[in-house]
Amino acid sequence: MKKILDLLSEEMGKAFEAAGYDGALGRVTVSNRPDLCEYQCNGAMAGAKRYHKAPLAIAGEVAEKLQGNHVFSQAAAVAPGFLNLKLSEEYLTRIVKRMETEPKFGLEPPQKAKKIVIDYGGANVAKPLHVGHIRPAVIGESVKRICRYAGHEVIGDAHLGDWGLQIGLVIVGLQDRQPDLPYFDEAYQGEYPKEPPFTISELAAIYPEASAKSKEDPAYRAKAMEATYRFQNGVPGYRALWQHIMNVSIPDLKRNYAGLNVEFDLWKGESDVRDLIPEMVEYMKKNGYAHISQGALVVDVKEETDTKEIPPCMILKSDGASLYNTTDLATILERMRLYHPDEIIYVVDKRQDLYFEQLFRCARKTKLVEPETKLTFLGFGTMNGADGKPFKTRDGGVMRLEDLISETREEMYRKIREGREMPEEQARRVAEQVAVSALKYGDLSNQASKDYVFDIDRFTSFEGDTGPYILYTIVRIKSILAKYAEQGGGFSGLSLLPAFTESEKQLEMTLIQFNAVVQSACEEIAPHRICAYIYDLANAFNHFYHETKILGEEDAGKRESLIDLLVLTRNVLETCINLLGFEAPEKM
Ligand code: ARG
Repeated sequence: MKKILDLLSEEMGKAFEAAGYDGALGRVTVSNRPDLCEYQCNGAMAGAKRYHKAPLAIAGEVAEKLQGNHVFSQAAAVAPGFLNLKLSEEYLTRIVKRMETEPKFGLEPPQKAKKIVIDYGGANVAKPLHVGHIRPAVIGESVKRICRYAGHEVIGDAHLGDWGLQIGLVIVGLQDRQPDLPYFDEAYQGEYPKEPPFTISELAAIYPEASAKSKEDPAYRAKAMEATYRFQNGVPGYRALWQHIMNVSIPDLKRNYAGLNVEFDLWKGESDVRDLIPEMVEYMKKNGYAHISQGALVVDVKEETDTKEIPPCMILKSDGASLYNTTDLATILERMRLYHPDEIIYVVDKRQDLYFEQLFRCARKTKLVEPETKLTFLGFGTMNGADGKPFKTRDGGVMRLEDLISETREEMYRKIREGREMPEEQARRVAEQVAVSALKYGDLSNQASKDYVFDIDRFTSFEGDTGPYILYTIVRIKSILAKYAEQGGGFSGLSLLPAFTESEKQLEMTLIQFNAVVQSACEEIAPHRICAYIYDLANAFNHFYHETKILGEEDAGKRESLIDLLVLTRNVLETCINLLGFEAPEKM
């Protein structure tokens, strides 16, 4: 189904033509004076010059042609030449019914479906997830769901950081604690133990300790770099430790992400492309793309038109070790070979924008991608604390993501317990679900590139522009529908009557924006558009609900029509929250 503004513009275009003007002037937009009308058309103003006629005269002639029109119940020419429009209730009902019957509520498939790889999450093995990991996970997951729903083929990849210095740090940190392990004995010939030499919580403690030491002590850092080089180059004991780190860390990451409804299609990492690196390096040298500069292998990526300095892209360090760059480039090579995507979207902290600029230029220059392959950097802003600085724990440390989630869950639990009677166990379960909505909505309702303040009080509130408010609205609808079913009420899904009241009409007018909203959220890679939409929709619903007797409506036909509208509203809201990556409970 076409978008409502397109449908209305077509109709308006016909009226312009009937009055002897160019149909393209009939572009209809949402009214900027909702007190006067629902939609408007400014085409007469645009046509005035061209037709040497007063805009109001043109508008008047067009309005004339629209009298008795089945789409517009009102089309008024007003000074200086606007066309103020209202939809006819009958036409609106027809559109809502189409929405109910067409797949995806009338969202049209894209003209050309793309294959898209989304690189998101940004987790590093051996390090626990911290609050900084919430944004890439939450935004990436939503972008993946939106693009997929919009009709594209989407592959979400975790692209784990599993080939870098953090591994070397864990290795030397472990050596400090347990120097006698066979992994560190170069003469050792036997099989390495199957059991990992650490638990997940030990692992979580080793990394920060070693990392802090390496910052103070250059010799320690050099040792960690040496260990990194050794495990990357396949020294058996170190490679065995790397495998243990992977085995312990990945299930923990999976558990954490699952708690946030974040599901990757691929759990690949930097390590997966290690065997492609020599080949890629060779290719870049052979084709003259890369050259040696101060011992390192680099590709120049600056361009004539640059206004700022864009440093070369380093492919190999002087000691031959690979870098963040190297694995990212090799991953592009691998993705092109395995999936041949039309687009790769990276959901990464916007402070890495220069890095991605270099990376993309390098990939293009060295022809790792095709000229038409789109490389997109979706850089997100920082989640800040109330002080406007990156969010910290009370004592100023980096907060673990798990702790942030459990704090939010506790707060949600408290709020749920406050107002209602609910068995303990259910309250816990509901709190968990609602907390995810609070965190995700609090994040996604901001444009991704902007920073935002994490405000637990606001995010967990049942009122205002929040996840819990949206869920509350859905649960309200569900409970009316449940009562209706209990009373033996029937539902055919085809019983919608033209709106009886203004608030019902407003609800319908909000519903029919669905296809346009999802399309633009996908095209602009902008989950916040979905948030803004469901906030409007929830408000429109609640307004309608407060003004309307639903179950108490005596006319059976009318009652069924209202139920019909409730079902559609619930379905649209639930579809949208699914695109954002959370779910509604049955009760709350
Ligand atoms: N692991 C990286 C970090 O901690 C983020 C990875 C982002 N994705 C990428 N392909 N570089 O900063």
